[in-house]
Amino acid sequence: METPAKKTAVATPNIALIKYWGRRNIEINLPFNSSLSMTLDYSLSTETTVTFSKMITSHRITLDGKTIALDRGDEKLQKMKVVIDEMLRIGGYSEDFKADIYSRNSFPGGVGIASSASGGAALVCAANESLDLDLSKKDLSIMARKISGSACRSVLGGIVKWKRGSRKDGSDSYSVMVFGPDYWEELTDLIAVVSEDKKDIPSSEGHDITSSTSPLFKLRPSLAEDSIGKAIHSIRAKDFDSLGEIVMKESNNMHAAMMDSWPPIMYLNDSSRHIMKMIADLNEAEGRIVAAYTFDAGPNPHILTLSKHASKVERELRDSRSIKRILKSGVGIGPKILEIT
Ligand code: DP6
Repeated sequence: METPAKKTAVATPNIALIKYWGRRNIEINLPFNSSLSMTLDYSLSTETTVTFSKMITSHRITLDGKTIALDRGDEKLQKMKVVIDEMLRIGGYSEDFKADIYSRNSFPGGVGIASSASGGAALVCAANESLDLDLSKKDLSIMARKISGSACRSVLGGIVKWKRGSRKDGSDSYSVMVFGPDYWEELTDLIAVVSEDKKDIPSSEGHDITSSTSPLFKLRPSLAEDSIGKAIHSIRAKDFDSLGEIVMKESNNMHAAMMDSWPPIMYLNDSSRHIMKMIADLNEAEGRIVAAYTFDAGPNPHILTLSKHASKVERELRDSRSIKRILKSGVGIGPKILEIT
């Protein structure tokens, strides 16, 4: 058995058009519904280097300069440990090998962009290379899902569907590319940062509070499946008008179910609502949908638009004093392995 090599992978976040919220299995992140997302390009990314060594006594990660043993970390770090151990087992390596993970984000921390999606995807891709496992995209997606649900969509580029699956072991709950990154290159995501505060309720808790307490949540699984079908249809036809409407309604529905939870979960703030109104007014003035907002578990809107409308939309956003900065991304191609490490 060869000694694992030092390898580096770069992965990017994704923005869910139809959201994952609520888990039927918490341990391995199995969702109640399928979801659909756009993988972002390399303007926002996580770069992760993995080395395996017998000289350290536990798996550890250095993130933003801080090193922490995975078995001493929070839920997400514990899940990373489980996945790394599983990958070592698949490769037939001795459990004396411990992962030394070094990860950094190109985007500033605290801007409300989930680094768990890009981080989870980058880690499984780097470990796959290092251990020379040659896992398929499907298996990488399953590994990433076990770290963080949304990470399973970041192992692929373009427009990605995470199939909910129905098996208990999660072997049919993974992502597939529905449209390649070149299919609709004009799609643009403007991320308007209105708050850099840490959220009160981490999404890992929020998922379970909503699914176990919200009466409205019961509507989501069938609604999400239906919306995915419609969104795919709109993307195939490159019909932004209908896609934008589906995306905004879906975000509203998820946040309504969050609000309907007990205790209520409110990720949106006054600035978020102000921007929702601004986008509605802009679309009204244009007589068609040129921009569509969508919010994950936080107050910062992702504004989807087409490249031809991007500067106009950006101008409108810049007029709003509540926006601290705007990040811009197109459709990404998915993770890559850096050859020079
Ligand atoms: C609102 O993937 O962060 O962004 O599985 O607990 O890691 P865990 O949750 P996470 O949830 C993301 C939820 C969302 C919607 C989405 O990305 O689909």
